[in-house]
Formats: sequence, C-alpha cells, structure tokens
Amino acid sequence: MKSNTLDEPASLTNEERAAANAAWHGLFWLVLANAVGVLIALLLIFPALNRQLGEWTYGRWIMVHMNLELYGWTSIPMAGFLFKVYGADREPMARWARTVLWVWSAALGVGVFSWLSGHSSGKLFLDWSGYARVLFSAAMLTLWLYLSISFFKNRSEKCSTASWAGKLAGLLVLLAVPFLIYVAADPGIYPAVNPDTGGPTGASQLESSLVIVAILLMLPYGLTLRKAGSSRIIAVSWLVLVAESLICAALGRADISHLHPLQYVSLGSLLAWLPLMPAYYATFEWHAATRRWRQAFLWWWGALLITGWVFFLPGVLDHFKFTDGLVGHSFVAMAGFTSSLIIFVMVQLLGEGGWIFNRTRSFYAWQFCVIAYILLMTAAGWREGFDPAFTIAPGMARNALYVLRLVAGALMLLASLDWLVDASTLVREPVAVQIDVALEKTA
Ligand code: HEM
Repeated sequence: MKSNTLDEPASLTNEERAAANAAWHGLFWLVLANAVGVLIALLLIFPALNRQLGEWTYGRWIMVHMNLELYGWTSIPMAGFLFKVYGADREPMARWARTVLWVWSAALGVGVFSWLSGHSSGKLFLDWSGYARVLFSAAMLTLWLYLSISFFKNRSEKCSTASWAGKLAGLLVLLAVPFLIYVAADPGIYPAVNPDTGGPTGASQLESSLVIVAILLMLPYGLTLRKAGSSRIIAVSWLVLVAESLICAALGRADISHLHPLQYVSLGSLLAWLPLMPAYYATFEWHAATRRWRQAFLWWWGALLITGWVFFLPGVLDHFKFTDGLVGHSFVAMAGFTSSLIIFVMVQLLGEGGWIFNRTRSFYAWQFCVIAYILLMTAAGWREGFDPAFTIAPGMARNALYVLRLVAGALMLLASLDWLVDASTLVREPVAVQIDVALEKTA
C-alpha cells in the first residue's frame, strides 16, 4: 500500500490490487466449496435428506466440492503469483487482470453447472466433460496468453539472463497445461481406475512429491530476494533435489507394490526435507506479516512428510486404503499444507494488505479445525480398516465422529467467510482499509 504523506490515505498499488483480486476470487470459491463440504457432511449423517434434493444428490455435490477446492481455491491465488512473476500486475497490462480472473471463475461456474447436471468424465479431479471441458481449457489458455503478452511487453525491464530464461521456460511448461488437462479428462485415454496397480508405488509417490519440492524451491524467487550469505543452504537444497530425482529415475516402474523395502526406503528419502525446507525458506527476505502463515505451512509440510510416509508403509497402507483415513490424509495435504502455503504467498503479495489473513480468531479456528478433522477421520479410518461396514452402516460411534466433523467443517466455513468479507473490503474500499489496519494493529 502506498501513501505519499502521513495525512494522505493509503491506496492499493497496481500490484497489490491484482493480488487482492486474485485473493478475492480464490476466497469466493473457498467459501462456496466449504459450504458444499458442510452440505455433504450433513448428507452423510442424514442420507434421507438426499431425497429432498432431486437429482442433485451427494454424488454430484462431492464433485463440486473437490473441484472447487482444487480449481478455485488452490489455483486462482497462484494465478496472482504468476501475475507478479510475469509483470502482469503492472502497467500497461494490470488493467486486464480482473477480466482474466473473471474468465477463469466463469469457466469454473459453468463446470459446477455441468457437474450438477450429471456430466462427468468419471475421473477424480478431471471431471471436466463436454462444453465445460472446452471452456475451462480456454480459460487456462486465456491466462497463459495474458502472462505471455505481459512478459514480452516488460522485456525491456532490467532482469538477469538466468531469470529471463527461467521465466521463458516456465511459460513453455505452462502452455502444455490446458492441453494436458483437456486430453487427460478424456475417459478413453486411460481408465479412471488403473487396472495394473493396487495403488501408488514408491517411485510414483516420490516423483509427484519431488515436483512439489521443486515448486517449493522455485517459489521464493518469484516472491522476494535472497538474504546475503545464503548460498550454501540453497546449493545443498538443489543438490538434494537432483540426488533424489536420480534415485527416482533409477527406481523405474518395474515394482508396482508398496511392499518392497526399496520402495519405502527411497520414499523415506523425502524426510531430508524436514529440516531442509525451513532452513531454505529462512534464507529469503519475507514481509513481517507472513510469519504466522509461513510457520504454519512449514509445520504442515513436516506433518505431511511424516504422515505420508508412515501411511505408505506395508501394513499401514493396507489397513487405511479406501477408508476415511485417506480423507484425513487428503486434508493434511490440501486443507493444512496447501491452504497455509497459499495464504502465505498471498500475504507476501498483498504486503500491508495481508492483514486480511492475520485475524487471530480465523487463523486458530482454521488450524484447530483442520487438525480436529484429520484426527476424526483417522479414527474413523482406523475402525473402518477392521470393519468396512463401520462408515456405511450408521452407528453411535460413526455418527458421533461424523457430527464432530460437521462442526469442525462449519467452523472452517466461518473462518473462510471471515477472510472473504475482509478481502471484499480490501478490493472495494482501499481508503477504509488503512483505518482498519491501524485498528487491527492497536487491538
Ligand atoms: C480447504 C478446505 C478443504 C479442502 C482442500 C477439501 C478437500 C477435500 C478432498 C480432497 C476430499 C476427497 C478426499 C478423498 O476422497 O480422499 C474431500 C472430501 C470431503 N470433504 Fe472436504 N475439503 C475442504 C473443506 C471441507 C469442509 C469445510 C468440509 C465440511 C465438513 C468438508 C467435508 C468433506 C466431506 C464430507 C468429504 C467426503 C468424505 C467422504 O467421501 O467420505 N471439506 N475434501
């Protein structure tokens, strides 16, 4: 936020406005997705309610819930990050940022309509089919075009050759995404359930986790500057990534079980990132307001590494597979780690405007409820592992766990609503924001 004199009210800079708009769109879908989460949690306790919903029963809403969390909440704020990387949040392109965000949100809205109408490819997180599939790929391509034009318009800006080449390579990779999503959503390309494997292998888990590690290592370069004298830890981190990638390549895909020591020992190499990732992030300059969410995402990162590996071990995976235990694991990954990471990125992009995520009540409500949700689902999954009927046939213990999950989910919904209301203030009334910031700080 910028203020020329002490008496002059602050207003959002172009960069902050683009970030605030991306935050608003992401939060809008988060609130909607969480509200749908509360609805489906209710339907699992009172299945008879499905009869009141006509054709829009649990099976249709669950698609809406998962896809909005993924393509709305966890995707749109990252578009805000890309705006910054490619200079799309600066003049002369900044004025188009809102339009691009609306195109994405409109395509997602059409997706919701199509899923509720019963159209789906049948593939988890790739439910796009028919007109929705075409529109969503077109929306992704619109974002790509916007980033590319911004990048080339800003090419005269001072920038090292390595940074320029990195951004260009990023654009080429991003270009593939709309086409890959379009193609992969085709049920004829590969079946929704892989008939060859009983589930993930050590190699495939390691591969996808290393992609996340690579993203985490690249992220700070788009957000801030390095501290002086930080090159050693940075070099070590990248070397570890290269070493693990070599292990991954050497593993191949011959062994498709999770029972061989080679599979789970190699996956265990990810535990090196427990101390390394916090050390790596400590070598960059961060806005003071990011502290709370930076710590949160790093704690969730640790929890994800440990619980993810333990879940993969022989005996444990066999017990939890296809139970509520894996719903709990999805929550560690998405509601805990990814959500905290995204909010951290947004706070950094928003600068002073990051106050919208720093209300103590919504921060703790979110974190405690996510932890509660995970514990409840792990308990349900543990029982389900012994008795598969546990979560299907209503009983006292099962209902108690599901009611408590409903309460935790409702509080998460309230926390997200808190952020959306504040983001609406930030987007529409920048003058009032400065007064709020002052009040928040003195409170
Ligand atoms: C950032 C927030 C959230 C994210 C990222 C998220 C993500 C997910 C994902 C990935 C699944 C699929 C899990 C699996 O099948 O492995 C799921 C299922 C579910 N979620 Fe959420 N969710 C969020 C918030 C909520 C909230 C607030 C509620 C409200 C209680 C909720 C209720 C549910 C329910 C009932 C299921 C279905 C579980 C089942 O199939 O038995 N979610 N969610």
